Amino acid sequence: MNKVTVCRKAHFNAAHRLYRKDWNDAQNEAIFDKCSNPYFHGHNYELIVSVTGEIDAETGYVMDMKVLKDLIKLHIEDAFDHKNLNEQVPEFSTLIPTAENISVVIWEKLRPHISSEKDLSITLYETPRNYVKFSGPN
Ligand code: NI
Repeated sequence: MNKVTVCRKAHFNAAHRLYRKDWNDAQNEAIFDKCSNPYFHGHNYELIVSVTGEIDAETGYVMDMKVLKDLIKLHIEDAFDHKNLNEQVPEFSTLIPTAENISVVIWEKLRPHISSEKDLSITLYETPRNYVKFSGPN
């Protein structure tokens, strides 16, 4: 059977601060640079959610894109958009909200809602030039 990847783009704005509570400001700035700013700062995150699977013989779909759109809206955009990730999103109360960790959290939030025969992959742009990908634990 032919496996096809369908992709849905989405977007959210969010603030964060990258720092470790057990490090002082100088250590945090040395590692996280401007992203350790104690007053937080924002990014325009661009998200691409990719689902790979066989084409359904009846519908011709891998996945109904309206369903995927609604899942992203409910579980990601409503949870992250215009939020301070450190302060307002429980997953980041003890997890540093790097693009890497955000991509894993997004994958974990969506995975239970997508049929297990399909593969799920997350691409997350933190800036137009910096992006990460996560396709699940190996
Ligand atoms: Ni940042």
